[in-house]
Amino acid sequence: MFQVTIPQMSCWGILFSHPRDYTPVCTTELGRAAKPSDEFSRRNVKMIALSIDSLEDHHGWTKDILAYNNEESGCAFPFPIIADNQRELAVALGMLDPDEKDKDGMPLTARCVFVIGQDKKLKLSLLYPATTGRNFDEILRVVDSLQLTAKNRVATPADWQPGERVMVPPNIPEEEAAVMFPAGVYTKELPSGRKYLRYTPQP
Ligand code: BEZ
Repeated sequence: MFQVTIPQMSCWGILFSHPRDYTPVCTTELGRAAKPSDEFSRRNVKMIALSIDSLEDHHGWTKDILAYNNEESGCAFPFPIIADNQRELAVALGMLDPDEKDKDGMPLTARCVFVIGQDKKLKLSLLYPATTGRNFDEILRVVDSLQLTAKNRVATPADWQPGERVMVPPNIPEEEAAVMFPAGVYTKELPSGRKYLRYTPQP
């Protein structure tokens, strides 16, 4: 049984797993994650990675990742990487990829992303196979949506980007929506005649 203690009560958290240290796709991903890590801290999100190798391997590998990013080798890596070399956390959190095995036939970790809210509850999980690298612009975009919708009774449509109009959820009656969204509510006419496609500027 694991208990993850997040010291700063008010922050968000992202835990993301990697199949293995010293592997090509993982190196591009961690390099990409390290580059905009100030983008995550600006959103009050603390990042932590996990890979099923030792602390010693993590130390050596982060030097390669910094070099991949063309950064000085003396630079500090901007977030910790959990050394889950016994796969305990990976098993407890269902992160193992049943199809990808190491040279000894042991399963590797899949590419999971868990976003944890300020209330320490899981807000989103993504699961990619080991062979598909993640898109960190998309992870920043979902954090923006999660944080916006945690504070406001709105929802974000397909492909939404910060600053674009948002949707009024169907459980808010028309009269209440008019008061709740003083910037205005636009309802799209639909063949069904139902008034469920309602937009409002981003609060
Ligand atoms: C990689 O990170 O490059 C990788 C790891 C496991 C399977 C395939 C690719």
